[in-house]
Amino acid sequence: MLNNQPYALEIVDVRKSFFQNPVLLGVSFGLRRGEILGLLGANGAGKSTLMKIVNGVYKMDSGSIRINGQEVRIRDSADARGNGIAMVYQEFSLIPTMTVVQNLFLAREHKKMGLIDEKKCRQEALEIFEKLGIQIDPDAVVGDLSIGNQQLVEIAKAMMQDPSVLILDEPTASLTHAEIALLFDFVDRLRKSGIAIILITHHMQEIMDVCDRAVILREGKVEMDAQVKDVTIRDMVEAMVGRSVSAEKLPPAQPINYQEAPLLQVCGLSCLPKVQDVSFQVYPREVVGIAGLLGSGRTELLKTIYGLLHADGGNVQLDGTILPARRDPAWSIDHGICFVPENRRTHGIVPIHSVCRNMLLSVWKHYRKGGLLDDRKATADTTDMIEKLAVRCTGPEQLLQNLSGGNQQKVVFGKSIFTNPRVLLLDDPTVGIDVDAKNQVAAVIRGIADEGSAVVLVSSEIEYLEKVCDRVLILRDGRIAKELRSGVDDLSETAIIDAMQS
Ligand SMILES: Nc1ncnc2c1ncn2[C@@H]1O[C@H](COP(=O)(O)OP(=O)(O)OP(=O)(O)O)[C@@H](O)[C@H]1O
Ligand SMILES: [Mg+2]
Repeated sequence: MLNNQPYALEIVDVRKSFFQNPVLLGVSFGLRRGEILGLLGANGAGKSTLMKIVNGVYKMDSGSIRINGQEVRIRDSADARGNGIAMVYQEFSLIPTMTVVQNLFLAREHKKMGLIDEKKCRQEALEIFEKLGIQIDPDAVVGDLSIGNQQLVEIAKAMMQDPSVLILDEPTASLTHAEIALLFDFVDRLRKSGIAIILITHHMQEIMDVCDRAVILREGKVEMDAQVKDVTIRDMVEAMVGRSVSAEKLPPAQPINYQEAPLLQVCGLSCLPKVQDVSFQVYPREVVGIAGLLGSGRTELLKTIYGLLHADGGNVQLDGTILPARRDPAWSIDHGICFVPENRRTHGIVPIHSVCRNMLLSVWKHYRKGGLLDDRKATADTTDMIEKLAVRCTGPEQLLQNLSGGNQQKVVFGKSIFTNPRVLLLDDPTVGIDVDAKNQVAAVIRGIADEGSAVVLVSSEIEYLEKVCDRVLILRDGRIAKELRSGVDDLSETAIIDAMQS
């Protein structure tokens, strides 16, 4: 890396407020060719806002952007593109009903005699996929692809601009381990070819593994700008949060009584081909974790228990009573079974509604007073939940779409626990949530269990399972391969990973 060259991208004293809400209070840093910069900060710190300014989506209040030492004006995304900047957004921007090729060439199709030259578009799509090492059918409809593959299409789309600065806003949040490895391999090749890359992520280890530098935003300013080799994860977390963050386990308030009757019983449950003859029990006050690679049937298992998928065999019992085979989610919610889906992008929220309306979506009827909504109670209860989960927003009335990605995720979680569930089914609830918020969510999960509920927690973050769970089941190819119990077996992160691999 040549340090006497001008920065490929330099952000100088950028300021931005949304109405009365100041977000960026003078942010400056530079990025060189061939460098990968990790941009970090708590949920709502302003990472996406800053990058959207660079990409011409938002207008800054003051400050400047320089490309190769020259100040440039970026008024829209065409200006950004003209300056060699491409961005993959945290929210997906693909059109689900169109094919992969149609999405890649949206509004810039190759034309032949006034008509779209489909053959040429398709050929170019195949070339870019080959270059990126991704195997996706260009004629597939985007909505039918896995979230991971949709993300790869987004990246391919950005790469088709042949950018010199590539911004990736939480690209790994919904990828499998294999897809992440592929992505980072690819990002590394881009770095070697001289592209400057900004990577936003909440996974500290990714910063350590792939970034050269880390820039941390806190309270609208750059709190840290350091070479990654000179800092530890702990340093970065402290800079993000402003204090140290506990990594301690969260044990139950009272020991779990394994002699009493289980609250939830899953007996020989199958939903073929993903879930095969699964049996386990969850006792009152217990948090049972499910570890397994993506594709191991984790999500399908939760959905079958919840009633979103119908079982091919076996049954689910609540308090010893067999639940009807053809139950649906509404039935489950009415009977105290609640499910927090993995992906806020497609489930569970209405972006154009307020935080309050979203939080109360499942419990609306409890807030009726004489046919009208009891506004006072709704606002008071939502305010409590906002505090409990430290949701960064201007208040219960703020529209959900104006919250940062991680804060939207907290609302999805808050909405589910509003129902006071007896059985809480959580599918990777911490995706996109910052380190501090993960602890708050963990405390809330433990609090719900401590009141006598049963919790089933699927997580891709093994250290999170170690922290919160009393028992961990290892799921492999739709079957339970092993059980690890706190106080009996080793429930450390390494032991769980070993069990997953053996
Ligand atoms: N269009 C908007 N209108 C009003 N406020 C907004 C808008 N976009 C973002 N904000 C506010 O700006 C702040 C920063 O949001 P931003 O999305 O940049 O955070 P972030 O650092 O990307 O967080 P996350 O890690 O959760 O993605 C938040 O308080 C958010 O509510
Ligand atoms: Mg963001």
